[in-house]
Amino acid sequence: MATRFPAAWLDELRNRCDIVQTVSGYVQLKRNGHRYWGLCPFHGEKTASFSVDAERQLYYCFGCKAGGSVIQFVMDIERMEFQEAVKFLADQHHIPLPQMEDDAEYQRRRSQRDRLLEANKEAARFFHQTLFSDAGRPMLDYLKKRGLTDNVIRKFGLGAAPSQWDALTLYLQEKGFTLEELRLAGLTVVKEAEPATDTTPAKPRRAFDMFRNRAIFPIIDQHGNVLAFGGRALGDQQPKYLNTSDTPVFNKRLGVYAANLLRKERHLERVVLVEGYMDVVSLTQFGVNGVCATLGTALTAEQARLLKKFAPRVHLAYDGDKAGQHAILRGLDILQAEGIPARVLDFPDGLDPDEFIRQHGPEAFARLPAITPESYRMRRLKEQHDLSTQEGRTEYARACAALLRHLDPVELEGHLQELMVQTGFSREVLSAQIGLNVPSPANEAPTSPAKPPRPRPSAPATEDQRAQEVLISLFATGRVPSDIASPEDFDEGLMRNLYTALMHGASPASLAEQQQAEADRERVSRILLTPMSEDTDQLLAMARDCLSRLRIRRCQEKINNVMRDINQRTGDEKQAALNQVQQLTAELKRLKAGK
Ligand code: GTP
Ligand code: MN
Repeated sequence: MATRFPAAWLDELRNRCDIVQTVSGYVQLKRNGHRYWGLCPFHGEKTASFSVDAERQLYYCFGCKAGGSVIQFVMDIERMEFQEAVKFLADQHHIPLPQMEDDAEYQRRRSQRDRLLEANKEAARFFHQTLFSDAGRPMLDYLKKRGLTDNVIRKFGLGAAPSQWDALTLYLQEKGFTLEELRLAGLTVVKEAEPATDTTPAKPRRAFDMFRNRAIFPIIDQHGNVLAFGGRALGDQQPKYLNTSDTPVFNKRLGVYAANLLRKERHLERVVLVEGYMDVVSLTQFGVNGVCATLGTALTAEQARLLKKFAPRVHLAYDGDKAGQHAILRGLDILQAEGIPARVLDFPDGLDPDEFIRQHGPEAFARLPAITPESYRMRRLKEQHDLSTQEGRTEYARACAALLRHLDPVELEGHLQELMVQTGFSREVLSAQIGLNVPSPANEAPTSPAKPPRPRPSAPATEDQRAQEVLISLFATGRVPSDIASPEDFDEGLMRNLYTALMHGASPASLAEQQQAEADRERVSRILLTPMSEDTDQLLAMARDCLSRLRIRRCQEKINNVMRDINQRTGDEKQAALNQVQQLTAELKRLKAGK
């Protein structure tokens, strides 16, 4: 596509868009000879290592080594593709694009586009001003009732569509826009004239505003163009949100809400993608940065690619209800297909992000674990299987194995631990099912998975041992209170020692050092360094699960032991044994009920 612009024309563009002037729009520059210096906009710094050479029309940062022509600068700072950046500069300097100069159809479309964007911008101004006038009182009251501050209302340019039929249409017609332009922009609904019939009188052509009696959320793209509007009903009227349908300047599948604000954020580690406009505004008010929303549709591949320009990672923060959960799975599919790293914020009790942050506060929001796509999918799969039956556990293990296949060993480790605890299958069986040769614990001989066997339960002895290891790994994270267990839960000497030491506040590093035997040191390091989920609730659930399995098995074992020789006993002894069995059975029942 580079051939699209003739080289001579590009040269002229570079000359006319003086780089010093362009950069000055973003960076404060100080002159020194033909060089200008400033703080680099591409990496955080306190002393100026960013320089612009007026003579050579190039910029270069001695800190982060970013550099290039004025076009490169616009591409980097505005996060644009080459063509976009060229058009952006040409537009700014009123330089006509080549070869399109005499394309009449192109000119017509371009000027129509400009007119519609102009109309939208005027409309946004009108809505925003109305919000602070008498006609906008109910909308302002509504936004205030939703907890929004004046600051955030201004930041997002929120507005009010008054209840009058045609306030905006009249206002824009006065500004010189034609009814046809307003109709094309989706701002005005035009009902054509109807001739009289036997039963109805003739009706003249009527025009009325698309948005009436609603709070208005302008949808602004990363270049500051107002593309469309979302209008929130003030009560329970339907539809709750009225959005501009697609127009010559708006395609709801291509953009995201709040792209204009995202563009200004530097060094974002992740964008937070939510479902609703209100969620974006509310999270932003509470200080969460990098928030945006889709425009009333499910996430598309185009939007995913757009998000990638803003940050290397996407956190899906959809509503915690069933619909949101479903949308997360679809969103993860899209992001993964585009190769974009994703995480999920899973809101409890069906809350949406706005409700969550208002009820629990910004600190609780910041503490929400960003869980991996695999953990999230496992969570949803778990709900579809009955893990109290062998069949359910087997099916669940199979489904998870398929899910985990593409992970690398480090990513896999935490998930594997989780799956071992949930299903009772051994590491070897699970890794064979996954189709990977995962390093096995140092105290066990590695097995080579020839062909994936059907998972089957592993021997109880090692399962117990594993549960104890997992417990130690969990307590070592420092995020699971150690008092939910007791030393009696650990029957292996080394594990019991580790547990008591952790309970008394020993650091994992000191514990590894204290081991005399090399094999123990390795084993302890492995246990203490096992990567674990970032989700504290999940860690706690795993620990409870391990403990309950251990305790159930021990109790069962005790019952078996007493029963084994109960018939050799007589009299009081037999009665005592029977009493003991009765007590143990009651205990077992309690354990199984999770008490
Ligand atoms: P509030 O009730 O104002 O808090 O809304 P919300 O932010 O919780 O939004 P919700 O989850 O109900 O909807 C998410 C997004 O879906 C909205 O921002 C709209 O883009 C879209 N949406 C919601 N309701 C409607 C509707 O009735 N019609 C259309 N076309 N879109 C809607
Ligand atoms: Mn909401």
